[in-house]
Amino acid sequence: MKSGDQWKSKIGFIMAAAGSAIGLGAVWKLPYVTGTNGGGAFFFMFLVFTLILGTTLILAEFIIGRKTQKPPIPAYKSIAPHTPWYLVGVLGIVTSCLILSFYAVVGGWIFTYFIRSLTGRLTEPVSGSYETLFSSIISNPWEVGLAHVTFMLITILVVQGGIQKGIERVSSIMMPALFVIFIILVIRSLTLEGAAEGISFFLRPDFSAINRETILYALGQAFFSLSLGVSIMVTYSSYLDKRENLIRSATSIVGLSVLISLLSGLAIFPGVFAFNLEPNEGPSLIFTVLPAVFSEMALGSVFLSLFLLLLLFATLTSAFSLLEIVVSSIVYRFPNKRKIAAWGSGIVIYVLGIPSSLSFGLLADWLLFGKNFFDATDFLVSNILLPLGALLIAIFVPRKLSNPDMKEELLRGSSANEIFFKGWLFILRFIVPLAIIAAFLNVLGIW
Ligand code: PFF
Repeated sequence: MKSGDQWKSKIGFIMAAAGSAIGLGAVWKLPYVTGTNGGGAFFFMFLVFTLILGTTLILAEFIIGRKTQKPPIPAYKSIAPHTPWYLVGVLGIVTSCLILSFYAVVGGWIFTYFIRSLTGRLTEPVSGSYETLFSSIISNPWEVGLAHVTFMLITILVVQGGIQKGIERVSSIMMPALFVIFIILVIRSLTLEGAAEGISFFLRPDFSAINRETILYALGQAFFSLSLGVSIMVTYSSYLDKRENLIRSATSIVGLSVLISLLSGLAIFPGVFAFNLEPNEGPSLIFTVLPAVFSEMALGSVFLSLFLLLLLFATLTSAFSLLEIVVSSIVYRFPNKRKIAAWGSGIVIYVLGIPSSLSFGLLADWLLFGKNFFDATDFLVSNILLPLGALLIAIFVPRKLSNPDMKEELLRGSSANEIFFKGWLFILRFIVPLAIIAAFLNVLGIW
């Protein structure tokens, strides 16, 4: 392995992996899904799934990556030669391209909102409500198109810089900045009059809203939020030093991701209630409700710009990981071709995203299974490809690696013992597949 192709420090790895995990899932999806699905009861389930099933799977991906020190396809091939298991790597790469194709569109919306907030074109909607402003922005092919290109360009430029000089360096600036901005926003939000009502909406459990759908939704959200099932954590851990303690790294990443999900709810809901807005706005919550919340506050435009910057950082660090999995696979075959790999795959993914970017305007009538292109891609990825990838990984690891091999990789440098190993293996072997199969049957309408 070339020098510079490994994380320089453990903290750099944690920042990059937490950066991959923390993104639209934690900051954008979780608040509105929680808001519409039973508040604290939903959040509690999400927490349990993330801590138990999420940590188990992230460790399984770490074991594959760190043991083989290779990108996904060669990693699966070297553990299970002459078998079709390498297709799990292929699936991960395809899924990543699809995710990034629409993820970059939302990244573009955030970018355009951020620029508008800086230039004062967001706090005073010209025509009526923020809803109108949002739909006029996302249906304007030039504005979203330009923003989409810019978002992809930033992602390509960072990923072409490599692991140490690109992803690690930028994530090590963006992630701490994101935490600081979050803390400022939460303090502002919690000191608003009426904040208590928002907190109670977010965290007071309403168990009557819990049903099979919401349970499975919480499961999907937990996996999406930790970037699991795509072999991204295989890729990132392949650049990790053999001596690093995997359990400690995994718990730090999961802990940071949960913390941000919590802070996100605390930053958003108090304002929504303080200004009498609708908490269950759905996906447009941050684009239509938050600008209204901030416009009511003293220094609101500054806080809004800060929030959008935070969201942009969160989205970018996730996008880096989605592109890196593709680039790492190309660079493995063609060493020294990182630049071409980053530009080539970045451009292909950008083109793949164009129909998603036009899904709310020019191509709004272009429906697949009753959904526009953007929603159809999101559905395919979140409900089918991601859980499928996670299921296959949960089956692959205990089948193809011997117990001593798994144990050696998992426990190296850690004080965890045999009991931890057995518990982890049990959850991986039985609980994770059961939970995912239940989710599948539900998506297919069989259960
Ligand atoms: N974890 C990211 C988020 O929550 O926004 C999204 C994501 C990134 C999902 C990478 C899957 C993935 F492979």
